[in-house]
Amino acid sequence: MLQIQNLYKEFDGIKAVDGLSFTVEDNSIVALVGPNGSGKTTVFNIISGFLKANKGRIIFDGNDIISLNPFKIARLGIGRTFQNIRLFPQISVLDNVLLGLKYETGHRFSSALFQTKRMKKEEADNIKKAEELLKFVGLAEKRDALAENLSHGQRKLLELARILALEPKIFLLDEPIAGLFPETKRTMFSLIKKLKASGKTISFIEHDLHSVMDIADKIIVLDHGKKIAEGTPEEIKQNKEVLKAYIGKDTL
Ligand SMILES: Nc1ncnc2c1ncn2[C@@H]1O[C@H](COP(=O)(O)OP(=O)(O)O)[C@@H](O)[C@H]1O
Ligand SMILES: [Mg+2]
Repeated sequence: MLQIQNLYKEFDGIKAVDGLSFTVEDNSIVALVGPNGSGKTTVFNIISGFLKANKGRIIFDGNDIISLNPFKIARLGIGRTFQNIRLFPQISVLDNVLLGLKYETGHRFSSALFQTKRMKKEEADNIKKAEELLKFVGLAEKRDALAENLSHGQRKLLELARILALEPKIFLLDEPIAGLFPETKRTMFSLIKKLKASGKTISFIEHDLHSVMDIADKIIVLDHGKKIAEGTPEEIKQNKEVLKAYIGKDTL
């Protein structure tokens, strides 16, 4: 589904991503794990077109997408969330999801004056769909709240609902469980598992290796922009490089 091939990215002499290759198999959950500054977000920024790599290829569904812009990449079916949550704070929870839907159908600029019957029907369908997505992530009751009044965990769930509206084939989630209470963490993981059960592919970033053991099909461990290990949770637990990196640390 998604192949990262020999990727390099340098910022002012810092090698943020240093010859990285890995594959995200169709309908799997792949966790990208590593300490702060190890290049995880940079990899997602390159895949989603927000940053240009110095070298390397990104193959999605058989096509090299490395030179495409973020809009085109999203259209191809790659949805991402951001480590620093990006929502519209001063509009309602429902409207935040609706914006995702409108972006897809391309009716963002349609004025009420020119609304045809078909467009009104589409608007009603969109509202219904947005409500379903809010229900899916457990935010149905927050429908009319302003996004800025949500808790951190609720914002993370709303971000997920927002990209769900785009119906991507692959979800790139940047630290979806960071800062969450255990209960919300479990909710997020159960949603990710449901997405997989419905045929989706998910890759997500997390700094704590222990957290991903029960959910990931495959774990990629990064350090200084390089892959130091790759394998199933069982394989990663036995991996010498990982154990070495772990000495004296609670989290990787
Ligand atoms: N836009 C940028 N400009 C300059 N340096 C950056 C930029 N983005 C990331 N970096 C640097 O690249 C390295 C990797 O960062 P990042 O990908 O955010 O790591 P992670 O997500 O693993 O914490 C860090 O040294 C960071 O400071
Ligand atoms: Mg990051």
